Amino acid sequence: MEPAYQPYLARVLLDEATLQARIAELGTQISTDYQGQGELILVCILKGGVLFMCDLMRHITLPHTIEFMAVSSYGVGKRESSGHVRILMDLALDIRDKHVLIVEDIIDSGHTLAYITRQLEARRPSSLGICTLLSKPSRREIDITIKYLGFEIPNEFVFGYGLDLDEKFRNLPFVGIVNLEAYRGTKG
Ligand code: IMP
Ligand code: MG
Repeated sequence: MEPAYQPYLARVLLDEATLQARIAELGTQISTDYQGQGELILVCILKGGVLFMCDLMRHITLPHTIEFMAVSSYGVGKRESSGHVRILMDLALDIRDKHVLIVEDIIDSGHTLAYITRQLEARRPSSLGICTLLSKPSRREIDITIKYLGFEIPNEFVFGYGLDLDEKFRNLPFVGIVNLEAYRGTKG
């Protein structure tokens, strides 16, 4: 039987092997950079960053802790960031004087990360960096400094490996480009 995502997949952009190889490199780099620096906290931005963080942390050889934060997204059916971001779930721990690395799935306009960065900076961590799997530089509206980047991608709506198509298909092991026409055609 054809998998449920198949009709909406225009093409695979980043296959599983490509993703995993790059994530291993990022984990190694992070392990080197934070060596001897003091406590490291990975802050996963829910929900999109979940698969990325789980795989990334397996390649980080330093002791570290993980935290989760959820912010409002576009809402089902919307493909644009509103610029109005809200915290839905905050960190459980104080990050003051800790090294914080934000783990995110994708930076598009930059509004989400600009907001999160402002919120977390105010809590005085020793350092605050961003690790994002994907970035769409052509869509940027706010400048964001990325410390670790998996892949730059073109201006296409993508899904899989944490990224959703109206909350579904986050579980796919690859990142695919959505066939938006086919997807719209199946909805009422
Ligand atoms: P920004 O605030 O415009 O940078 O949007 C960031 C958020 O939008 C990401 O964390 C994703 O949740 C979502 N997003 C942006 N582009 C895509 C995409 O191509 N597929 C799925 N989600 C996306
Ligand atoms: Mg996200």
